[in-house]
Amino acid sequence: MTTLKEDLAREAARVEFWLAGCLDGRGIPPRLREAMDYSLRAGGKRLRPVLCLAFAGLCGGDEEAAMPCAGAFELIHTYSLIHDDLPAMDDDDLRRGKPSNHKVFGEATAILAGDGLLTEAFACMAEAAPAIPAGRVVEAMRLLAVAAGAGGMVGGQDLDMAYTGAPDVTLEKLAAMHAMKTGALIRAACECGAVLAGADDDRRARARDFGIHVGAAFQIVDDVLDVVGDEKEIGKPVGSDQEMGKHTYPSLVGLDESRRMAGERIAMALDRLSVFEGPRADFLRNLARYILERAQ
Ligand code: IPE
Ligand code: IPE
Ligand code: MG
Ligand code: MG
Ligand code: MG
Repeated sequence: MTTLKEDLAREAARVEFWLAGCLDGRGIPPRLREAMDYSLRAGGKRLRPVLCLAFAGLCGGDEEAAMPCAGAFELIHTYSLIHDDLPAMDDDDLRRGKPSNHKVFGEATAILAGDGLLTEAFACMAEAAPAIPAGRVVEAMRLLAVAAGAGGMVGGQDLDMAYTGAPDVTLEKLAAMHAMKTGALIRAACECGAVLAGADDDRRARARDFGIHVGAAFQIVDDVLDVVGDEKEIGKPVGSDQEMGKHTYPSLVGLDESRRMAGERIAMALDRLSVFEGPRADFLRNLARYILERAQ
């Protein structure tokens, strides 16, 4: 029996291996490449690609063939972090345990490194065909584009900025904003795994719902850790949300109620997995529980 920590380390290592080579041979100028690699290769939990691969395997697909699609989620996620830390946004100086991208390379290069990661993600994803049937790859690209775009992550980030310091932010508004800025990519990572494996509608819907609930819990936990986390462990500043005047679950309902609400969403995620069996299902169940444990 392996522990979840060992399983996660093994899964993340598979993703790291792919990330190490995914930008090679694309004609990227050296300094821009350095800036892209600086954030991409700085660690991170690799949650989104790991979820994508696990759902591909769970639905009977070829996980290795799905890797460029899974990895594309990490390129997009990393771009979102580089831009999120910029002075015009959260103005944070620490990310993944290192100075933020703009602190090392300057704002212009940080913006372009993010742009580069965003765009190359789609080149990588397209290259998953023909090992995976092209129709499935196109559908996965559509899901990723919609999730990362203005009606998804980017739109959520825009609402996050608009709500900062605003007087009338309710829990409903906050939950809807979280579903966009964080939930959309996590949801799409899970659903893409199922799509790449050619899953039927029921399995695809279960993957999607699991992602929606896990995504909601994940951002609540992220907000809790911004209050009670350890800077060394989370690799980014603690107290940043309060300093910026952000509305968060802890600021609206307190820490204990936030943890309870995250637990509720994880229970809903687990419920949607109930029809699945085998090692990939067990891994996903453990992963969902672990997300909650981070906030205790
Ligand atoms: C942080 O994401 C930003 C959010 C969407 C909450 P992660 O907690 O997945 O960050 P890394 O990838 O592990 O650095
Ligand atoms: C991030 O939310 C959401 C993104 C799309 C990057 P946060 O601003 O809370 O993420 P951290 O705490 O800086 O990682
Ligand atoms: Mg932010
Ligand atoms: Mg931030
Ligand atoms: Mg945060």
